[in-house]
Amino acid sequence: MSLTHPAHAGRTQLDRDTVRIALLGCGTVGSGVANLLIGSASAIAARSGVAFTLEAIAVLSLGKPRTDRIPRSLLTADARSVVLDPAVDVVIECIGGTGVAADLVETALLRGKHVVTANKDLLATRGPELRALAHARGVTITYEAAVGGAIPIVRTLTASLAGEEILEVGGVLNGTTNFILSAMFEGESYASALAKAQRLGFAESDPTNDVEGVDAAHKLAILAQLAFGRGLVTSEIPRVGITRLTPDDVTLAKRLGYRLKLVACARRDASLVTPAFVHTDHPFAQPAGPQNCIRITGRNSGSLTFAGAGAGGAPTASAVISDVVAVLRHIGVGRHVGILPVDDSLTPVTTAHEPSIPLPRIVRLHSLRDARPAREALLAAGFQARALDGVPAIRTERVDGEAPVRIEAILAAHAIVAQSIIPLWEDVDPHAYQEGSHV
Ligand SMILES: NC(=O)c1ccc[n+]([C@@H]2O[C@H](COP(=O)([O-])OP(=O)(O)OC[C@H]3O[C@@H](n4cnc5c(N)ncnc54)[C@H](OP(=O)(O)O)[C@@H]3O)[C@@H](O)[C@H]2O)c1
Repeated sequence: MSLTHPAHAGRTQLDRDTVRIALLGCGTVGSGVANLLIGSASAIAARSGVAFTLEAIAVLSLGKPRTDRIPRSLLTADARSVVLDPAVDVVIECIGGTGVAADLVETALLRGKHVVTANKDLLATRGPELRALAHARGVTITYEAAVGGAIPIVRTLTASLAGEEILEVGGVLNGTTNFILSAMFEGESYASALAKAQRLGFAESDPTNDVEGVDAAHKLAILAQLAFGRGLVTSEIPRVGITRLTPDDVTLAKRLGYRLKLVACARRDASLVTPAFVHTDHPFAQPAGPQNCIRITGRNSGSLTFAGAGAGGAPTASAVISDVVAVLRHIGVGRHVGILPVDDSLTPVTTAHEPSIPLPRIVRLHSLRDARPAREALLAAGFQARALDGVPAIRTERVDGEAPVRIEAILAAHAIVAQSIIPLWEDVDPHAYQEGSHV
């Protein structure tokens, strides 16, 4: 059985066939997508001007309870048959990961089907390759939901800012770590904040990808691919997670008038994910709990900041449906969605481990936390010796084994970090920016 939705009641339909859609995955995001495809079918068809049918919903376990809205007759446990079905025109992938989902997406593209996906892991690791495949097959792969949940950042970069030279993109990209750091700001330890995030569904039972900064790096890779047209992938982004942050760090941030955030930032030749002190007035300090904040700085546009729900079933499903409408519209007018006018072959991957533009004003807080004296750690982190002149005496020995001495050392170090990070985020002056120079 399939569900058919005419584009416009009482109006002549386009002379092409009804578009046939299949959904892979019906979990947090997929069930939200299914609900919208079924419950808002008329609106989607009307907005896209194209009639569509929902042909099938592939899941892992047929026996799992689903909402009543999802007809059981659409469910199948054979996702591969769905993507091989010549009748299916558009595949929406909401399974996740780089295993079976990758095979299914690749097969769908090879078979000439448009793909809509929320799969950041896949796009961050194999985005350039999959886009090239889609291009070669004359279809599209769209992924508005892969970064920032409901925040319309992918289309902003690819369409609204298509004529812009992007200088920098980044922000607070991971809701789980932001939730944990927000809870720590309210006085909780890292462990209890993580447990709370897991209890409330903001963190997975294995939170590694989030707390180690992998998820933020995935999203940054996707944004950088779009902004700079180069095939940056996650493994090339230097990253530090939040697992070693302590209540001392949060206390220190408060005392200095800063918030502690996991910030991800990319420029054309450099990228980094790191815990950072962000001044309370700064937009990146504003997102609370699981919210995201993303900023794009263009040479002519200046800085544009977007904030909102970075994850969750309904917000992410909303972004998926926006891609579905875009694909339907473009099928309707007989052309393809202009998702990424980038030829990756022209911009070979550079090794971002050794960025040609170092980011001296972003310092990994952990590098200040090693056994070395703070001054030495700061020098190792890239500060010039003269920049450390005038820093209050940094005591590194412990007195009676008490914590305050260690805090004092970190305070001095962090005070410099705080002053040093902020200009990077505040002062990107598009007109003063010189390619290849330090900012
Ligand atoms: N959750 C979020 O807030 C969020 C936000 C942005 C992006 N995303 C992305 O959205 C994607 C989906 O995430 P999610 O949170 O919705 O995951 P999820 O809740 O774990 O759902 C995964 C779905 O995939 C199905 N599935 C697993 N293996 C399958 C297979 N071999 N064949 C067919 N179906 C299979 C599962 O079936 P069963 O239902 O039978 O188990 C389930 O319905 C991921 O790429 C994720 O990164 C999620």
